[in-house]
Amino acid sequence: MEYFDRHEGGERAILVHVNVQILQDLDAEEFQLLAQSAGAEILEQITAQRQKPDPKLFIGSGKAEEIAQLVESLEAELVIFDHALSPAQERNLEKVFKCRVIDRTGLILDIFAQRARTHEGKLQVELAQLEHLSTRLVRGWTHLERQKGGIGLRGPGESQLETDRRLLRVRMGQLKEKLDKVRQTRVQGRAARQKAAIPTVSIVGYTNAGKSTLFNILAQSDVYAADQLFATLDPTLRRLSWDGVGALVLADTVGFVRDLPHALVESFKATLEETLEATLLLHVIDSSSPEMMEQIDAVEKVLKEIGADIQMLRVYNKIDRSAEDAKIIYAKPDLPERVYVSAHSGQGLDLLKQAVQECLLGHRQPFQLNIKPQYGKLKTQLYNLNVIQDEHYDDFGNLILDILIAPQKLEETIKKLHVPMEDILGEQAKQFQRPLEAFEKEMS
Ligand code: GTP
Repeated sequence: MEYFDRHEGGERAILVHVNVQILQDLDAEEFQLLAQSAGAEILEQITAQRQKPDPKLFIGSGKAEEIAQLVESLEAELVIFDHALSPAQERNLEKVFKCRVIDRTGLILDIFAQRARTHEGKLQVELAQLEHLSTRLVRGWTHLERQKGGIGLRGPGESQLETDRRLLRVRMGQLKEKLDKVRQTRVQGRAARQKAAIPTVSIVGYTNAGKSTLFNILAQSDVYAADQLFATLDPTLRRLSWDGVGALVLADTVGFVRDLPHALVESFKATLEETLEATLLLHVIDSSSPEMMEQIDAVEKVLKEIGADIQMLRVYNKIDRSAEDAKIIYAKPDLPERVYVSAHSGQGLDLLKQAVQECLLGHRQPFQLNIKPQYGKLKTQLYNLNVIQDEHYDDFGNLILDILIAPQKLEETIKKLHVPMEDILGEQAKQFQRPLEAFEKEMS
């Protein structure tokens, strides 16, 4: 076996985007975003053209020399390629560049390693990292025992011990066993969580759609979020309390990418495992992207594959750039299907909250309210909720309002005024006379 020191790597990176005629074109901008997601500090992005990949270096030797000089002058610690490299190509390039090289698969695995949250997700990602690593084994990695973090180095360690092929196989065997066990217990775990009856809203979407931006805004707008335990334990989970909905958990997830290297599909799905437990999915979409339709398809196809058959609200984000108006579009008169917002300008965020509430609380229904003059405040509140369809006065001077509202929202609004439901709803009040537990069960 060849003796060769792998370089340690770090976060100061040069990106190499290669347009290869015989391979599918990859999106340079998306590549850059992926590298940023992994925490890379991008020093330079190089574009190269090839008819077909060079078997030794993937790129031409002239280009490789040019990059080597850049690595030296910019003091780069890492070169990232946006294609899959063979282990030999990766090694040869490292020799020329005198720094660490990772490919598209390694980059995406690194992002997964940072974002995997559940036990199963973590195991799955570690397994994929080890599998990727095992094809790239070379002797002489002792200096990596120091275990400095960096892109492509997170997750499984790269000490001499770990990189020994035999031990690696043992570790992979152990991981597979653990994964089997976790999967067996998962079903039971989910049932227990559902009993807790706190609705979970999971934010999913294509990379760069604005998931994290929306997540932070929604979380920050809620005072309750700030001092929650979740907030410190896991930056991608928040426990909130919303009017009309009560406690809910908001979860951010890893972004989708098209052309996911095949070997990674399983680990990606594992990072999404928790979305299977969500009550509602918010599918965040970049409405300003020319690729919007393809991105929607890519996301919804995978959701279907992992069996996430869950109520979904599409959130068309970035309307400040796509010239759409803030609005809710209903699939049926009572069921929100899409909402148009801008996380940047704040347009439509109130509608987003409203739509989430409507999705969680059930469908809107028509009610006729009879409001005596002393309950005038109720009209203002209903007016603010934007639920009034029609209004007129009866012969006794009472205000008659036709409204379309989620029953829970109506109940909560009336109760806040400390007015008996029957006084306002008459016969219709009967449907609200049910135990609270029944309501909680519906929400779980
Ligand atoms: P991944 O982590 O890659 O999955 O991305 P993400 O979906 O979490 O996207 P993120 O929140 O990181 O936002 C991506 C980029 O879009 C950032 O530069 C945001 O500032 C920008 N962005 C988010 N929302 C809006 C918006 O409403 N309008 C505009 N113009 N830009 C936005």
